Amino acid sequence: MDNWNRIDWLASHQHLPPEEIEQLLTDPSEDTIQYLFNRAAAVRKQYYGTDVYVRGLIEISSYCRNNCYYCGIRKGNTKAQRYRLSKEEILLACRNGYKSGFRTFVLQGGEDPYFTDLQLIPLIQAIKKEYPDCALTLSLGERSRDSYLACFQAGADRYLLRHETANPIHYRQLHPTPMSWEHRIQCLYQLKEIGYQVGCGFMVGTPGQTKKDLAQEVAFAEEFRPHMIGIGPFLPHSQTPFAQKSAGTLQQTLMLLALLRLTLPKTLLPATTALNTLTPGGREAGILAGANVIMPNLSPPEVRGKYQLYDNKLSVGLEAIEGFAILKEQIKQIGYQTVVARGDSLQ
Ligand code: 5AD
Repeated sequence: MDNWNRIDWLASHQHLPPEEIEQLLTDPSEDTIQYLFNRAAAVRKQYYGTDVYVRGLIEISSYCRNNCYYCGIRKGNTKAQRYRLSKEEILLACRNGYKSGFRTFVLQGGEDPYFTDLQLIPLIQAIKKEYPDCALTLSLGERSRDSYLACFQAGADRYLLRHETANPIHYRQLHPTPMSWEHRIQCLYQLKEIGYQVGCGFMVGTPGQTKKDLAQEVAFAEEFRPHMIGIGPFLPHSQTPFAQKSAGTLQQTLMLLALLRLTLPKTLLPATTALNTLTPGGREAGILAGANVIMPNLSPPEVRGKYQLYDNKLSVGLEAIEGFAILKEQIKQIGYQTVVARGDSLQ
């Protein structure tokens, strides 16, 4: 099979064997890449039109009990600035977002032991009471099944938990014990079984990741069938063990977005902040390669700079609520439009 045949096969079968995906990722020509993006954009238009869904991202805590080698807010980074938002600050962020037309709020944070169910449940209930027309997404890492269930019963609709890599051996190169790949995957299956709309995801270009691993990511998505998949390039953070490692590339990240769009036409794919931090215009390039979600930052301006997962993480301007009017304009210019809607997955 040549590369164009591979892409045609994937588009018509929503499946391509991992060996073939690996081939496709090996020195593709510019024409091949463009063809892949065009097919992915066409499939996404078929299911979601030119709509782009908006999620307001509220980073509720930069405390984390984990020590992931890549992440700037890892426990071992004594220079990280730590903060935690109060219930009032979180509700205020939602209020600001609602006024701008956001109909999904994402509460994301490190694994902060402060946020027990006792803290979270009244918060979830308050948000859902004030905004019954909005979806509430949690992205708070690994918790017990009981806790996931309690949050779901309190009104949370969705949960994002990136698996980070579909390869358990590679997972070990990115995370120290006691974290385990098996536990993370178990969490994902529990979330789905409870009834959440579930997002998984991974970084492109993490140290030790091979093209075979990337092909495995597509196979994992095909098997797990998430409602959403968040992917972005790995970007080094200077106060982590991976400070000297090189970043993932724009091209490879965009190719993975397109491959995932063709494999799971109905899944939601965000064009992430990391993509835009890597290259200006990355967000638009992501949309043109099949992404259909953006997640502007809704956190209070005073804390935004403190949620530094990687160096130079964008958190102002077009990345945040203040720049939303301009961002909407930019999205229009490439032929798409943001919509005021919850934006549930068709998956
Ligand atoms: N580069 C890119 N993405 C990162 N994340 C954490 N650290 C980095 C980094 N250095 C991503 C992880 C995590 C999400 C919240 O941010 O995939 O799940």
